[in-house]
Amino acid sequence: MNIKAPRGTQDLLPETTGNWQYIEQKLTDLCRRFNYKEIRTPVFEHTELFQRGVGDSTDIVQKEMYTFQDRGGRSLTLRPEGTASAVRAFVEHKLYGLANQPVKLFYFGPMFRYERPQQGRMRQFVQFGIEALGSADPAVDAEVLALAMSAYQELGLRSLKLVLNSLGDAESRNNHREALVEHFSPHKEELCADCQVRLEQNPLRILDCKKDKDHPAMATAPSILTYLNEESEQYFAQVRNHLDNMGIDYVIDPNLVRGLDYYNHTAFEIMSNAEGFGAITTLSGGGRYNGLVEELGGPETPGIGFAMSLERLLMALEAEGIELPVADGLDCFFVSLGDQAEKAAVRYTYELRKAGVQVDKDYQQRKFKAQFKAADRSKAKYVVILGEEELQNNTATVRNMNTGEQEDVSLQQLVAYMKKELEGEN
Ligand code: HAM
Repeated sequence: MNIKAPRGTQDLLPETTGNWQYIEQKLTDLCRRFNYKEIRTPVFEHTELFQRGVGDSTDIVQKEMYTFQDRGGRSLTLRPEGTASAVRAFVEHKLYGLANQPVKLFYFGPMFRYERPQQGRMRQFVQFGIEALGSADPAVDAEVLALAMSAYQELGLRSLKLVLNSLGDAESRNNHREALVEHFSPHKEELCADCQVRLEQNPLRILDCKKDKDHPAMATAPSILTYLNEESEQYFAQVRNHLDNMGIDYVIDPNLVRGLDYYNHTAFEIMSNAEGFGAITTLSGGGRYNGLVEELGGPETPGIGFAMSLERLLMALEAEGIELPVADGLDCFFVSLGDQAEKAAVRYTYELRKAGVQVDKDYQQRKFKAQFKAADRSKAKYVVILGEEELQNNTATVRNMNTGEQEDVSLQQLVAYMKKELEGEN
């Protein structure tokens, strides 16, 4: 039997997990500076959460969810995104009652969507996301955008484009919706089957259709920006003002439509401009969702957030030729000859490890020379040599692999010696 990982999933092997850990640690530190705290929610939720949260008319809910019945007959779904879960937890644990508002959360975790896999589009992917719940201050929108851009910039990415739009409040969207229905209705028969349904359910989504994107009616479709009421227009102006003030570049695209139903006011995506990035250029997306907490049973609470997949982030790093400074070499490797020496090596690798040194030794009963080769392959900074002669003198020979210099060190002093040497290195 030849069982492989399911289509659209991947194994992350030790040669790449170092990059993942590095990125996770960098993003966690970014969140610390912006004062976002980590939340961890279940990987599966009641299906209804996403039907209500993400929206019944979205592709995600209609076509992409991994939904199953558990043995108790409940309908559960592997989460396709993190916002609905974060908001559910916010409501369930009454975080809206905390004195410190807004509540600022971040998360990492696998998300699941039954999509057609291609480069940058997986069926299981890892999202990093943030959500700020409890403030309708446009400065929070700017903060979320700033964190999103910093995440990429601090990892060294340069070919970035921040695309911004406003979807306005409920009144603006209703007016725009009516205009869209009026605009597209005469062309209904020419639109794809999905868009014919969208025309009834959620005409905004037509603007995002891949099949109909070249239909002439697309180019002349009414823009949301001309339908923003005064309040929405002012809100959008204030967000832009903050961004200008912070020196964050963006372009406005009135056709930017997000694939989830909960958005209003600010909507954005960050794209990669890097050559050779591939067909999918969106690195991340997010926006404001002022009705979602209420929709999920909480008090009226504004919210905004964004999410990115680490898979696309890694693709962008590769496209820009950025190598992450992930150290993969050992501090120290033990080479020993003979049973007694091997015994001492077992003991002193343990002593050094307890003292915080990154150490390994040979476990293949290799010959002396082959052990040195293994030490080389492990990129050890130091090799500790334990032979018969050394043991008789209760010493080890420590070789600095960079300089080739060797020194005899008494076994009692070995831990202190190695720590001192390594301190000098770092
Ligand atoms: P989304 O646009 O559906 O938004 O996804 C956000 C990001 O997740 C995408 O920009 C992309 O980086 C990544 N992503 C989505 N689908 C896939 C896939 N199949 N394979 C690889 N990466 C993927 C949301 O999920 C919202 N919850 C974002 C948000 C948070 N809005 C407000 N707060």
